[in-house]
Amino acid sequence: MAMRVSAPGKLILLGEHFVVHDCLAVAAAVEKRAVATALPHETVVIDAPDYSIRQEMTTGDVLSFLSEAQSLREKEDVESLKRLGRDPLLPLKVVTGAALANCSGKGVNVRVTSDVPKASGMGSGSAAFVSLAGAILTAHGREPDAKTVADLAYVGDVLCHGKPSGIDNNTVAFGGYLKFRKSSGPEPLKVSPKLHVVIGSTGVSAPTSDMVQINRDWLALEPARVDHLLEQAENISQRGLDALKSSDAHALGALANENQVILRELGVSHPFLEKLIIAARKAGALGAKLSGAGGGGIMYAICDGEDAQARVAEAIKTAGGKPILTQLGAQGVRKE
Ligand code: MEV
Repeated sequence: MAMRVSAPGKLILLGEHFVVHDCLAVAAAVEKRAVATALPHETVVIDAPDYSIRQEMTTGDVLSFLSEAQSLREKEDVESLKRLGRDPLLPLKVVTGAALANCSGKGVNVRVTSDVPKASGMGSGSAAFVSLAGAILTAHGREPDAKTVADLAYVGDVLCHGKPSGIDNNTVAFGGYLKFRKSSGPEPLKVSPKLHVVIGSTGVSAPTSDMVQINRDWLALEPARVDHLLEQAENISQRGLDALKSSDAHALGALANENQVILRELGVSHPFLEKLIIAARKAGALGAKLSGAGGGGIMYAICDGEDAQARVAEAIKTAGGKPILTQLGAQGVRKE
């Protein structure tokens, strides 16, 4: 029987970019999902219509590609990994290989579809990889627990983004709200705040790895200035945890504004993001910031109730962005 497993998208609430340097970050899963369906098979068939991919290959081919990618990772050859990641089949192939290596190297026929907007900052890649790994494990009689699938999906994110912190794949796999630090990993939060959020998409996409390179370059060129930003980022995320625990939308809005100031200073914002952030705040948002890698992608605004949410969504639309209304705190990886 075919096994279906889904995984949500994600929204980084506070701390992106700074998380790469081991600052605390806070994220939530969003109710837009990737769904993978898998069946044991003699060979490996990967079908991903969103990327116009349908390809059949041998299990040996998939596993040898996995070991090639692993050896590039061991050598920290980030450039070669990113080059491989430009072909959308290859990250799917490497995650398939990683999952199959966990299932005594059997074959699989797997199909992935998704309603997480692509290349937007909402974790479309991680959602596809987590659902793919989950469906392959399930088809071979294994439980798709969050930690295992997050770890299997990470290798796909490595091909797409170079040296990601791990926040995307973990948020998508664990779901809900979580705090994340690179050195200590994910920690799911026992909170369910009633937040009215509008996500605004610029439709502009910038490779995450290029945006992260900006923060690495600034750190190398002006360590004292960036150290100061890192301290502020850590403090903002810490205060964000308290605001989430007490469902304090006003405090979260103010923290989003503070966080946007240091992201802008880091050089990862974009004029279109700024335009949408200004539009949201003029329409009464309690706060707004970019989310994810920036350079385009998405922003989000926190609103004081449903009426304010509708006004902010309209303002984002009038400013040329695409408002996305979705629930935060969605369930992580799950069997369908
Ligand atoms: C991308 O969703 C988040 C970044 O912080 C990169 C990362 O954490 O790897 C920009």
